[in-house]
Amino acid sequence: MSYKKVILNEFGGPQVLQVVEEAALPEPEAGDVRIKVLVASATFTDTMVRKGIYYGFKETPPLSPGYDMVGAVDKLGAGVTGIEIGQMVADLTVFGAYTEYMLRLADSPVPVPAGLDPAEAVSMVLSYVTAYQMLHRIAKVQRGQKILVHGAGGAVGTALLELGALLDLEMYGTASKTKHELVKSLGGTPIDYKSEDFLVKMEAIGGVDAAFDAIGGDNFKRSFESLK
Ligand SMILES: NC(=O)c1ccc[n+]([C@@H]2O[C@H](COP(=O)([O-])OP(=O)(O)OC[C@H]3O[C@@H](n4cnc5c(N)ncnc54)[C@H](OP(=O)(O)O)[C@@H]3O)[C@@H](O)[C@H]2O)c1
Repeated sequence: MSYKKVILNEFGGPQVLQVVEEAALPEPEAGDVRIKVLVASATFTDTMVRKGIYYGFKETPPLSPGYDMVGAVDKLGAGVTGIEIGQMVADLTVFGAYTEYMLRLADSPVPVPAGLDPAEAVSMVLSYVTAYQMLHRIAKVQRGQKILVHGAGGAVGTALLELGALLDLEMYGTASKTKHELVKSLGGTPIDYKSEDFLVKMEAIGGVDAAFDAIGGDNFKRSFESLK
């Protein structure tokens, strides 16, 4: 049976993405599972992979992008137990998920609870895992603390706000004006990074306990200065 996947033969703009058809499905070897991909994210990081500017990424074209996905287990390789055909699973693939079918080591995907919309479940993989790790494993924020989130209207930013709200954090988020209602609806106080100085605002409240900054450069230094 044939299947389609997206590949790039060189790094670059959106035009390098091509849909190609493979003549036969990949066959799982011992220890593999084959997954029928239902959804894959299109994240900021996928864009960096596509452009060839994702720090530390060693793969070279031709390759398929696709950092995460949710799919259904389609075929088991020899010796695979504990996972069933038809089971919905999620995986952090880093690349390769822009495809209808892919192989993974059987211990890589995790089960997705039945009844979830795959397109909603996939947001839990890269964006929410990133937000969770930063909040709980790196910053180790405590209930009621103050945080500053840059890109608060983005994928990771909104995940940080949702997870932060569970801890009753006092949250400030930089975002474009059009995303301020979204930031507010998630419990954050929006700051328009185009017209307001977030450092002045953070100093006025006595500083924050943690700042999450994927903007970098001078912004990062100013985030550091925003800390208590
Ligand atoms: N290491 C990891 O595991 C990991 C995982 C996921 C993401 N990331 C990284 O995290 C970053 C965000 O990813 P994402 O998926 O959340 O991207 P996204 O959904 O595209 O959101 C990025 C946000 O950045 C905002 N922004 C741009 N310039 C800004 C500035 N000067 N100040 C404040 N906000 C600004 C944009 O806000 P407006 O539209 O409001 O202007 C946009 O909402 C990326 O660098 C990505 O590579 C890392």
